[in-house]
Amino acid sequence: MLILYGLAAADLIVVIKVETSGKVNKYFHIIVSVIVMSGDEKKKHVRVWVDGCFDMVHFGHANALRQAKQMGDVLVVGVHSDAEISKHKGPPVFTEDERYKMVRAIKWVDEVVESAPYVTTIETLDEHGCEYCVHGDDITTTADGVDTYHLVKAAGRYKECNRTLGISTTDLVGRMLLVTRSHHERDESKSPDPLYIQSIGQDNQGRSPYTGTSLCLPTTKRIAQFSSGREPNPGDKIVYVAGAFDLFHIGHLDFLEKARKLGDYLIVGIHSDPVVNVYKGSNYPIMNLHERVLSVLTNRHVSEVVIGAPYSVSSELMDHFKVDLVCHGQTTICPCPLGLDPYHEPRRRGKFILIDSENNVTTESIVSRIINHRLEYETRNKKKEAKEINIAEGKVNSH
Ligand code: CTP
Ligand code: C5P
Repeated sequence: MLILYGLAAADLIVVIKVETSGKVNKYFHIIVSVIVMSGDEKKKHVRVWVDGCFDMVHFGHANALRQAKQMGDVLVVGVHSDAEISKHKGPPVFTEDERYKMVRAIKWVDEVVESAPYVTTIETLDEHGCEYCVHGDDITTTADGVDTYHLVKAAGRYKECNRTLGISTTDLVGRMLLVTRSHHERDESKSPDPLYIQSIGQDNQGRSPYTGTSLCLPTTKRIAQFSSGREPNPGDKIVYVAGAFDLFHIGHLDFLEKARKLGDYLIVGIHSDPVVNVYKGSNYPIMNLHERVLSVLTNRHVSEVVIGAPYSVSSELMDHFKVDLVCHGQTTICPCPLGLDPYHEPRRRGKFILIDSENNVTTESIVSRIINHRLEYETRNKKKEAKEINIAEGKVNSH
């Protein structure tokens, strides 16, 4: 059999692949690789380094990684170990294995370096072939108050991206502890003071310009930046899943990874705040619809999201998106208000399956974990904010 490879590159070549023996086949593949590589070498691959704790990773972290990726070609993310974080700012809420996995799932990340040192050194950048280090425009210090980036700054190998306003771990923890539903509220006049909500999670006196937050103001531009923008290809198998996806976590990751493997294009329907509140109760969802949309969009397996998806997977929805398969995990399926099964239509069409994420983390278990660690979290945050206030007042050690 004769196959022609036409390569649309500056050095256009045509290679004839003759499928005779495995040896000959291999020989031609090597020629193709060498020629393609020499074309690519003309464009230098800039490797960019970002490091951090990535505890309770959220779309603010992901947005920093998105910006860093735009500053080069390959994004390498160093994640600190539990021991290193405990030493410098107190124990993290999530284990290092959970944090490594969460960062790997963010679609702009190419490589993860585990147990990265807290102070970024030139040796670390060189070891991983990175030209420079990128960090948000806030300040991170060691336990002794030293700027963790002083070495790379002095060497001119440091760049900044914009920290994402309107999202912080502190604010999310405040919402969990306060058991309020005010974050669902779109009418500002009815919302309690956001500073009050944050203060519940941080128990502090002064206000750091970094740890605090304003309200999340999602724009269509931000959604476009996070979207893949890819349409399904003809013949793609389309998989649909729906849910709250609140406090986007490692259970969601495992579920989405399995769902994506069942097809070629994964659509995630995200229920609105009032719908989630009906079936989860209390102050759920902790993150509002816009925040949950941005979180899900950062996941590498997700092709598209439906913002405010209907609870019942209707015939119209399945036809509109040409859905081939609908999946749900092992969590309880709450019936619709009239007692109907929300998956009645996909089941009737023989297009519904239950999948096992083999992960029992839920939004509720994360909230319990935070509540159980409240004291540790508050102490850690108090220390962090006191350091940041010192820095803002010009009392930082630059080495
Ligand atoms: N980051 C950001 N916007 C946010 C939160 C974090 O741009 N809203 C950036 C930080 O500036 C940093 C990266 O995400 O470049 C990793 O952050 P990390 O070390 O986890 O720090 P914080 O989230 O700021 O720290 P903490 O967990 O103590 O709140
Ligand atoms: O609970 P929520 O609506 O956010 O869940 C969204 C989807 O993720 C559901 O199909 C649920 O069963 C699945 N999931 C899972 N494993 C977990 C958590 C959620 O399969 N640990």
